[in-house]
Amino acid sequence: MFSFPLVVHCVLGFGIFNDHSCWFARQVILVVSVSETANLRNLATQLGEDGYVRVKAAKAETTIEIARRFGTLSVIPDLSPVQELIPRAAEQTSASSYGEMYGLREFPLHTDMAHWYVPPHYFLLRCVLPVPHVKTLVVHSRHLFVDEDEVTLRRALFRPRRRLDGRLTSLRLYESGRYRWDPIFIVPITKTAVELRERIVWRIASAKIEELSLDDTMDCIIFDNWSVLHGRTNVTMDCVNRRIERVYLDAVHL
Ligand SMILES: [Fe+2]
Repeated sequence: MFSFPLVVHCVLGFGIFNDHSCWFARQVILVVSVSETANLRNLATQLGEDGYVRVKAAKAETTIEIARRFGTLSVIPDLSPVQELIPRAAEQTSASSYGEMYGLREFPLHTDMAHWYVPPHYFLLRCVLPVPHVKTLVVHSRHLFVDEDEVTLRRALFRPRRRLDGRLTSLRLYESGRYRWDPIFIVPITKTAVELRERIVWRIASAKIEELSLDDTMDCIIFDNWSVLHGRTNVTMDCVNRRIERVYLDAVHL
């Protein structure tokens, strides 16, 4: 997808030749740069329109190197920059994540960290160990909030299920260009919010949900966590080896 190696080879290859060769090398670099710019513009358009975009790791590139190539890493206290996502059995007591709560069952569609006042903007998933039958689910939130007016969205107040740093901040499902949704970790606190929640649940049940595969260790997907909801299909016993790495990003450079 990207052409850095070709540019480098041209520069090294032609640097020892005559002026004509250098002129040709410059044209090649120009063409490659234009093509790369067009590629990046396409990726940015896809991310803007679909709320996610597929990117490829270069050979031997680590997940953190890929994340740095495409964006700015989020710094989140007590959270490793790269988190390994491994299917495991559910823990019924004090579950505080979808993995602990749902185990190998399907994860419902949600915004990551929907209970935070400002959830992380982007995250990158990288396939470490692919399995054939487990998919990442995604739907753009705009389809779920269709026909909801500004007043409703302003009056529909939610709060985190549990206190965060001893506080319960009120949250809205759409504010300042950010959608959020979570069926578990945020709860409605106004009548308008209860009604909105019911409509969103109903729309999710009838929405067209995309199923994305991560089939190769070079496969990565960048999600706009403020625009799309994501989930995961159930994990059958022959797929429990699935390994995904996740990195939160404050910004994406496309
Ligand atoms: Fe998630």
